[in-house]
Amino acid sequence: MYAAAPIEGKKVFETYCWGCHHQTAVAFGPPFAEIAAKRSPEEIQAMITDTESVSKVLGYKRYAMPAFTLKKEELEAITRYILSYKNKKVQ
Ligand code: HEC
Repeated sequence: MYAAAPIEGKKVFETYCWGCHHQTAVAFGPPFAEIAAKRSPEEIQAMITDTESVSKVLGYKRYAMPAFTLKKEELEAITRYILSYKNKKVQ
């Protein structure tokens, strides 16, 4: 039996998020550094999985982000990845 390889947040990012989010630069969506500075892990995960209702809770009038159905490990990995940009300067 092989242990499953740990899922890397960077990989989830490159697969699903990179087209609209960058780490420290504003893209179509806000940079991860900005998100990490103001959101909890729960808010981040809720936004990813239930974008339509949670974007309103976070203060967006409209939303442009599609919701994602990720595996639990992927969701945790991408959340850690986003939060790793806390205290990084937004360009
Ligand atoms: C099609 C473009 C698009 C993709 C792909 C996308 N996002 Fe977004 N995201 C946005 C936009 C635009 C916003 C700002 C709110 C809105 O308009 O929906 C946003 C907002 C967010 C927020 C909340 C920002 C805040 O105010 O705290 C989080 C968290 C987030 N995205 C995470 C992700 C993650 C993680 C992925 C990949 C799994 C992803 N997004 C993929 C466009 C995208």
